[in-house]
Amino acid sequence: TVIAAGMILFAYLCGSVSGAILLCKICGYPDPRTRGSGNPGATNILRVGGKLAAVAVLLFDVLKGMLPVWLAYALHVSPFFLGLTAIAACLGHIYPLFFHFRGGKGVATALGAIAPIGWDLTGLMMGTWLLTVLLSGYSSLGAIISALIAPFYVWWFKPQFTFPVSMLSCLILLRHHDNIQRLWRGLEPRLWKRRGKRR
Ligand code: G3P
Repeated sequence: TVIAAGMILFAYLCGSVSGAILLCKICGYPDPRTRGSGNPGATNILRVGGKLAAVAVLLFDVLKGMLPVWLAYALHVSPFFLGLTAIAACLGHIYPLFFHFRGGKGVATALGAIAPIGWDLTGLMMGTWLLTVLLSGYSSLGAIISALIAPFYVWWFKPQFTFPVSMLSCLILLRHHDNIQRLWRGLEPRLWKRRGKRR
């Protein structure tokens, strides 16, 4: 239990390191919290710093979710605490200790955190996100649909993780309330311009 508690704390601290804010500081880009959607995440870094910066942030945020959960897994932490470690990493990203508890939406970190559960589940999640984004052009819609469907996938593949994954989904959906409103009103910006259309 001491190891499990230590892993939860470690996961929260890992999550608290914001890839987006750090990269912008290092590369001299504007603070992502003051531009675009105001979200320190890969999608907004695409708007602020371009594709390469977005990929770097995406990888960083995925890895900071993956590392503590994998470590906990290697230390034979029970599935219950493994789930809590994953949630802690995402809570760190969303409410970072190092950035006044104002962080991102947790999508990339959650994806990294569920990777140690299994590649089948991770692959399905990535596929769902990618398909939704390619069809709609909205990064946020990809996250919303993936979060809605994740509890069903996990229940099918690894039922013992249904509770923590559902918690992650709830967190992600709550963090997308602005995006949901913008999507509803038709005001959400697409990742790319549609051919023949202005927006
Ligand atoms: O991962 C965050 C994404 O789903 C939405 O980002 O910047 O469009 O609010 P953003």
